[in-house]
Amino acid sequence: MNTLISWLMTLCFFALLFLLSCEEEKPAPAKREAPAVKTEEVKETIEPESAKLPAAPSPQADPAMGKEKFTAFCSTCHGESGKGDGPAGAALEPKPRDLTDSVYISTLSDDRLYKGIAEGGASVGKSPIMPGWKNALSKEEIWNVIAYIRTDLCKCSYTGN
Ligand code: HEC
Repeated sequence: MNTLISWLMTLCFFALLFLLSCEEEKPAPAKREAPAVKTEEVKETIEPESAKLPAAPSPQADPAMGKEKFTAFCSTCHGESGKGDGPAGAALEPKPRDLTDSVYISTLSDDRLYKGIAEGGASVGKSPIMPGWKNALSKEEIWNVIAYIRTDLCKCSYTGN
């Protein structure tokens, strides 16, 4: 009889161990996720400082959507075709940049274009008449406009200086 009880107890003990080990496995994935959450937090903490730096250009940047914003916000100065000949640009000195000028635009990196458009001409040592658009356009919209400039206006990519 005693043997039976001690057998049962041993069984219970192992059953309990088994259950505990199952229990312990559950939090494991959560532990694995923890560093990811931390990275997110770190990203958020450095966000204010890096806000000056643009987000990386999205591979989904859409030139067609960029064109809509360009027509709405930029063409008054830069012209419908981007040549810098918009009605509001005629009297400006310096003239709004000819964005079809591939020689010049290809010297500007995507980040450099982003900064000038988001923060305005003065932020990149250019005329303050070129306004900053970060309050009017979202990051995605600015990247769409850059995609439009690259694919349809200058038809150029960044080649360095
Ligand atoms: C009020 C008129 C005006 C509007 C509106 C305007 N720009 Fe400009 N933009 C300028 C002027 C003027 C310059 C030339 C600055 C210089 O060369 O010093 C310029 C220059 C630029 C440049 C060249 C910057 C560089 O680094 O040399 C880009 C790119 C540009 N604009 C994009 C845009 C986009 C995109 C929009 C719309 C979201 C826009 N601009 C709206 C006036 C304007």
